[in-house]
Amino acid sequence: EVILSCGDDILAIPVIGMGTAYPAPDPETDKAAVLEAIKAGYRHFDTALVYGSEKYLGQAISDAVRLGLIKSRSEVFITTKLFASFAEKDLVVPALNMSLRNLQLEYVDMYIIHWPFKFGGEVKSMPVAKEMVLPLDLKSVWGGMEECKRLGLARGIGVSNFTCNMLQDLLSIAKIPPVLNQLEMSPAWQTKKLNDFCKAKGIHVTAYSPLGGANSRVGDDRVLCSNILEDIAKAKGKTTAQVSLRWVYEQGVSMVTKSNNKERMKQNVDIFDWSLTDEELEKISHFPQRKAVTFASIVGPHDLIVDIDAQL
Ligand code: A2P
Repeated sequence: EVILSCGDDILAIPVIGMGTAYPAPDPETDKAAVLEAIKAGYRHFDTALVYGSEKYLGQAISDAVRLGLIKSRSEVFITTKLFASFAEKDLVVPALNMSLRNLQLEYVDMYIIHWPFKFGGEVKSMPVAKEMVLPLDLKSVWGGMEECKRLGLARGIGVSNFTCNMLQDLLSIAKIPPVLNQLEMSPAWQTKKLNDFCKAKGIHVTAYSPLGGANSRVGDDRVLCSNILEDIAKAKGKTTAQVSLRWVYEQGVSMVTKSNNKERMKQNVDIFDWSLTDEELEKISHFPQRKAVTFASIVGPHDLIVDIDAQL
């Protein structure tokens, strides 16, 4: 766990979280996977309004309490995210209320701005028209996020995919500073500058796609099929995935990763009683760098987005 303080609240974020970004066609499969994850020791779950996974996650948590796998909802750390169509002061609280209804929860542990831009209206499919993609009005959207915190709907508030410059701008206007930035990080996208910046400003980093987003719509198998990681894994009797997750952990961050497979779930929380040597870290530092999750591929290649993809 990593201890975070937001306003007058102290939160403990478990290092390994389970992602829910790519729901299976059948929500029962995903719900069963969350229950398996709780059995395997996972206490941190990451969702977003736009993933369509809030409902089954909420059901799984209430089932877990009913089945006695956890004593109460307070034993799990739940993050959800503000979608870009609601990134305006008066729309933020209603958007979180919508997520809370989906989740059947009274509060989330962490509410974060999903993307560092907004949509100028409702978006039904992607890519989206150029005129729909607008810069965030930070004062407006962060005012709404602060309201979520004041109302007790979110214990912590933060952002995702923010660059150093955007964080700097946000810190200069925030009454309650962001406590977390969730960003892509893996041996294939090491984000050292951004991670160092966040550390210096007291902003906790949660890594997403710590396995390079393998099998996802946007990622690939560069991490899981890397010779560098495979050689290290063989020498240590670990899997390539474990070496990648351990590397991410050694950057001082928490992470969200997804597996629906029981054995792989267990592997992914088994990264704490061994470490990488200086020589191994040195080898990984030469991993060819390329971002797996680009907004241009999700939203469309608009100028603002191309800039965000290019910057750290
Ligand atoms: P699966 O559900 O079949 O295990 P990321 O966390 O970077 O987004 O990557 C998630 C992908 O990596 C999932 O498709 C998942 O597939 C796969 N994955 C997760 N854990 C492991 C593991 N320990 N070994 C191999 N693949 C894994």
